[in-house]
Amino acid sequence: MAQYHQFDALVVGAGGAGLMAALYASKSVNTAVISKLYPTRSHTGAAQGGISAALGNMEPDKWEWHAYDTVKGGDFLSDQDAVDILCKEAVEAVIDLEHMGLPFDRTADGKISQRRFGGHSNNETKQPVQRACHAADRTGHMILQTLYQQCIKNNVRFFDEFQMIDMIVIDGTCRGVVAVELKTGEIHVFHAKAVMLATGGFGKMWKISSNAHSLTGDGPSVALRCGLPLQDMEFYQFHPTGIYKMGILLSEAARGEGAIFINDKGERFMERYAPTMKDLASRDVCSRSIYKEVRAGNGIGGKDYVYLDFRPERINKYFEADGNPRRVDAEYIEKRLPDIIEFVRVYMGIDPITEPVPIQPTAHYAMGGIPTDLDARVLLDENGAIVHGLYAAGEAACVSVHGANRLGTNSLVDLIVFGRRGGKKMAEFAKQTEFLPISQEVHKPAEAMLNGIRNNDGKEHPGQIRKELQLHMDEHVGVFRTKQGLEAALEEIRGLKERYKRIHIDDKGVQWNTDLMEAWELGCLLDLAEVTAISALARQESRGGHYREDFPDRDDKNFLKHTNVWSDNHMSYKPVRMGRYQPTERKY
Ligand code: FUM
Repeated sequence: MAQYHQFDALVVGAGGAGLMAALYASKSVNTAVISKLYPTRSHTGAAQGGISAALGNMEPDKWEWHAYDTVKGGDFLSDQDAVDILCKEAVEAVIDLEHMGLPFDRTADGKISQRRFGGHSNNETKQPVQRACHAADRTGHMILQTLYQQCIKNNVRFFDEFQMIDMIVIDGTCRGVVAVELKTGEIHVFHAKAVMLATGGFGKMWKISSNAHSLTGDGPSVALRCGLPLQDMEFYQFHPTGIYKMGILLSEAARGEGAIFINDKGERFMERYAPTMKDLASRDVCSRSIYKEVRAGNGIGGKDYVYLDFRPERINKYFEADGNPRRVDAEYIEKRLPDIIEFVRVYMGIDPITEPVPIQPTAHYAMGGIPTDLDARVLLDENGAIVHGLYAAGEAACVSVHGANRLGTNSLVDLIVFGRRGGKKMAEFAKQTEFLPISQEVHKPAEAMLNGIRNNDGKEHPGQIRKELQLHMDEHVGVFRTKQGLEAALEEIRGLKERYKRIHIDDKGVQWNTDLMEAWELGCLLDLAEVTAISALARQESRGGHYREDFPDRDDKNFLKHTNVWSDNHMSYKPVRMGRYQPTERKY
């Protein structure tokens, strides 16, 4: 027997998008959130440096400049109507967060403080602009705390440490989800009029990743298994500054505050690759530049990493060279970047105030995911048909605002803007519809699938398969890609999927069976890795985060289009919705 619950609106995932959606839905309908983590442990908390909005608190700025930067940063693959919504509504959404009590840092005259971030510029001077609103380097953490408190105040019902394992889609309508309560192992059926998937990304496909252990793409994978397509899966972002060998994020806010990259010769090498924006070029450009330095033998000690230098006296030297009158000292840097300074001290045993920090690009963010329209409604196909009652937002979704490469800080904007739009639409939909029937047996396939994993007595160990998957993805589906590498990765992934059928787990119990849940999550990662490699192989051009060494140029004639891919591996394409901006060469 499964336990049964009924809610008008059900949100899966308690990161920024999920909480924002739940908050807005709960203003008018009965709303619940299920989350495999305690809500404030969600990965939004790892977004450090800021949330962009053209408030113009520090210097002139316009939402249209933000929109242009987003489209350019996305290498012209973004849908421009979605980008306009993102950048225009960002201003109101940040003020909304402020009114909810989010403790933003302040300017001397009490306004929300803003800092520079990669790819954000004054479109007239072409110089970096201060657009990222921040709470030290804990902006995502503060968003989570603020939204969670607001949801509690609004009587959102939380089911913490419940993991979704299936979605109930009947006759083109989503009617709820099936989940496991981790503490008891019991199956729960959540019957709902409107469901939102806001489960976050899937960076654990790669070994060197900024993503937490829980980022296994549960929402996109369940959608794929339910016959829905995923969009633009080949576009995955590698953040340039992960702690060497660990991948832990060191916020781009460091470079926003003046830190720079240096190679083994002590050169500020970004001057060569991005003469105007330099270390604040977009992430795809910086990550490739780091590896170009490594390939040229300029990695530190000839190895595969470079330094991020945020020693105050060095920052001041670079400010001086750039003609920037700003100056910083250790106290300022400690105050503006407390978490990442602590991470470096704890994890590396070095002090970034006095020593440069070894970094390498780290798998960070999925631009692709579950395709949605502008109101977060999930799309069934490339023609725009929707799945009734199903919504997606945040990193699990692809609306598509980030195109081929996301600008730093725009993930938090995306969560807030499209989480809010989705929450409002869910409530609207739930108010005008009845609960559609589901059978008492609706959980049986998911239960059988889980028992299948629990009782399987094969020889393969999930941990070993996960390790091999991550190594192949790092090697072949990383910053640089080739046909041969992607074909090799695809063959390996398919081999791992075969081996996955023969796994065994050690814990056969029901309570807190993390062995079981991690094995299930591995299945999600394998499915998503396969469609990522397929999409990457088919895109014979280089654009944003997808760089093909065998096709080094962007090819607008043949590839200015979005990819859709299904679980049976068939694909289709749909046009990018253009607007004010036509593709041009991307210079930084
Ligand atoms: O670098 C950072 O603080 C990360 C932010 C983001 O991914 O937007």
